[in-house]
Amino acid sequence: MKILKKNILKLKANNIIHCYKLISNEYNLNKIKNLNGWSQKSISNYIHNPKYISLGYFQKKKLCAFIISNYIKINDIFENEILLICVEKKFRRKGIGTALISYIINQKKYFNLSSIYLEFSAKNRKAKSFYENCGFKYISLRKKYYTLNNNKKEDALLYKLEKRT
Ligand SMILES: CC(C)(COP(=O)(O)OP(=O)(O)OC[C@H]1O[C@@H](n2cnc3c(N)ncnc32)[C@H](O)[C@@H]1OP(=O)(O)O)[C@@H](O)C(=O)NCCC(=O)NCCS
Repeated sequence: MKILKKNILKLKANNIIHCYKLISNEYNLNKIKNLNGWSQKSISNYIHNPKYISLGYFQKKKLCAFIISNYIKINDIFENEILLICVEKKFRRKGIGTALISYIINQKKYFNLSSIYLEFSAKNRKAKSFYENCGFKYISLRKKYYTLNNNKKEDALLYKLEKRT
C-alpha cells in the first residue's frame, strides 16, 4: 500500500460516526471511563472549530485513520498538541500514522512550528513505540491521570517532539 500525501484530507461531518467507531473499537481508548471525553459531539466540535486541525487518511474515499490536533501561537512561534490519532486496525503498520504526524509537522502555514506535545497511557505500548519512532521524547509522568471503566487509575506519559529547523 503506497502512502500518499494527497490522501490526507480535512475531516467532514460525514466522517464523525466512523471516527467515533474507530475510538470505540480500540481497547487502549475504550477502557478509559467515558472514552476519555470522546463522543460524536466532541468530534463534531473539533471538526467545526477552526482552532483545531482534523485530518483523515482516505483510501479510495474510505476513511482509514484520523488525527485531531491544535496549533497554539506563543509569541511568533507555533506549538501543536495532538489530541488523538487513531488508525483502523486493518490499516496499521503501513505508515499511515507516521504520514499523519509528518503532515502536522510540515504544514507550510505553520512553518515556524517549534514543538509538538501529546500524552497517552503509560500502558499503551504500541503508542509508545509509535511516538518514539516518530522522534517524540519523554518529558514527564502524570500520575493516575486516566480513570478506567473499573475505576482503576492509569498514569499518562507526556511526550514532546522538537521540530528540527
Ligand atoms: C499507534 C497508532 C496510531 C500507530 O499507527 P500506524 O499507522 O500503525 O503506525 P505506522 O505504520 O506509521 O508505524 C510506524 C512505526 O511505529 C512503530 N509502531 C507502530 N505500531 C506499533 C506496534 N503495534 N507495536 C510496536 N511498534 C509499533 C513501529 O516502529 C512502526 O514501524 P514498522 O512498522 O516499520 O516497524 C495505531 O496503532 C493506533 O491507532 N492505535 C490505537 C489508538 C492509539 O493508541 N492512539 C495513540 C494514543 S492517543
